[in-house]
Amino acid sequence: MNHLLTRLWYIRFVSKLQGVLFVTYEFRGASLLEAVQQAIGRDAPTVEQKKLNKAPQKFDFAARARLGSALFVGEGNFSFALALARLKGVSPSSLLATAYKNEADLGDTAYDNAAKLLKLGAQVKTGVDATCLSKTIGQRRFRTIIFQLPNVASREVLYGQNPNHVLVTRFLKSGRSHLKSGGLVVISTVDSPFYEGAFKMDDAAKKAGFATPDIYTFNPKDYPAYSHLNTADEESAINEHTAFATFVFST
Ligand SMILES: C[S@@+](CC[C@H](N)C(=O)[O-])C[C@H]1O[C@@H](n2cnc3c(N)ncnc32)[C@H](O)[C@@H]1O
Repeated sequence: MNHLLTRLWYIRFVSKLQGVLFVTYEFRGASLLEAVQQAIGRDAPTVEQKKLNKAPQKFDFAARARLGSALFVGEGNFSFALALARLKGVSPSSLLATAYKNEADLGDTAYDNAAKLLKLGAQVKTGVDATCLSKTIGQRRFRTIIFQLPNVASREVLYGQNPNHVLVTRFLKSGRSHLKSGGLVVISTVDSPFYEGAFKMDDAAKKAGFATPDIYTFNPKDYPAYSHLNTADEESAINEHTAFATFVFST
């Protein structure tokens, strides 16, 4: 009887825990232990945790968009590209907004936003893999290449590395050959030691031949029309987290 009660308590505890974890976090780490540690804020065993040395000021996305020649990759529903395309002084025809998904797999919001971008004169492309850009965008070069909140939605370790580190490293390597002279690659993420431990941005920059990135504060609420969606579900990391960072990579 005691044994059964203990088992029942354990099952309820684990399902409660999973309820909390699976509802609250998109990025759950490679194991339940990591996820628990992420949730309670202790050091995870396989993901090094590092606090960001972030400048208090924000990266000026608007000024960058006004310079023209900006490529957006990994746009979930095109709302960030659309928010910038609508800013005063931005020439939408100088923007190329892309999504990883193919056109047939886009949700309604993505479809509507893509149509709005096209109407403004921006270019839109689907099925664009940020890790091998030349396959879909040829040899085009840009002043700024932007990937907001990259996430592979996978916990599978690749070459002994977190898959999100692999994604950003490959993206930086690919993006580098699509930058105009003096161009920048810009990536925003959730600002938490766990995320930084997963992305390892400094290492990714080094591997891809960039200088150590400058890090700025990012506040998604500065772009009210930006309605980020997680890769794996319909939740929004913008609502789930309070601190974000923008990494700016130059050569
Ligand atoms: C967390 S969502 C963020 C979406 C969007 N950038 C935003 O901020 O709302 C992560 C995005 O990364 C995209 N992604 C994952 N792997 C990718 C790849 N290899 N190339 C381009 N995008 C990728 C997913 O399709 C998804 O849209």
